Amino acid sequence: MSEIAIHLENLSHRFGSQVLFQNLSLQIEANKITVILGRSGSGKSTLLQIINGLIVPDEGSVQLFGQPLDYRNIHQARLNIGYAVQQVGLFPHLRVIDNIMLPGKLAGWNSEKKKKRAAELMELVSLPSSHSEKFPYQLSGGEQQRVGLCRAILLNPPLMLLDEPFSSLDPDTKAEIHQEVLKLQRTEPRCIVMVTHDPEEAQKLGDVQLKFENGQLTPTI
Ligand SMILES: Nc1ncnc2c1ncn2[C@@H]1O[C@H](COP(=O)(O)OP(=O)(O)OP(=O)(O)O)[C@@H](O)[C@H]1O
Ligand SMILES: [Mg+2]
Repeated sequence: MSEIAIHLENLSHRFGSQVLFQNLSLQIEANKITVILGRSGSGKSTLLQIINGLIVPDEGSVQLFGQPLDYRNIHQARLNIGYAVQQVGLFPHLRVIDNIMLPGKLAGWNSEKKKKRAAELMELVSLPSSHSEKFPYQLSGGEQQRVGLCRAILLNPPLMLLDEPFSSLDPDTKAEIHQEVLKLQRTEPRCIVMVTHDPEEAQKLGDVQLKFENGQLTPTI
């Protein structure tokens, strides 16, 4: 068995009377892309937030790389997790470049290092460098999504949680980014957990495909 990056044990969570999971246990392998499919409202985004420590489950535990998630020191744990949220979640008052470099600031990187890495990533996802100085509202939806992606991977984290990261991209840009993701994964393999509604995307990128149904995640391949 290869290394396990995420170990969820007996997770249960509900919102009011709505039960999302009950006794959900799951292991997600390091160095693989695990894709999560499932109906709207099934609990995919909630699960990513639980893995990221943003939501504390009612019951059960989360271990990342063999360590229980330390909720008292969650900011430190999050430096190892790149998280692209479904709603993109850029800070409206920060310029594009500052949004991308933000995790670098939290990690204490110097200005040179942050700028170099941000420029490299903007190029990777085909964002023109002239967008750096703009504010998020001045970008299209798909461009904002790519900025969110750059921010998620800035620190090159060993774990990436991507919540429908490519959903607002046109087919050509999407196909290009898929190739980049696969290339990145070949050269620097890591644990990527990606939520998508696109079966073709799941097929193309996923080493493992899981379907979220009735509070359980079951492999589809
Ligand atoms: N903070 C919250 N308070 C109450 N209910 C919530 C909260 N967050 C999510 N829910 C409910 O939990 C369910 C699962 O939400 P979640 O966002 O995890 O779904 P999802 O699978 O990501 O859906 P989608 O594919 O539409 O993004 C939904 O029915 C939602 O209304
Ligand atoms: Mg969601």
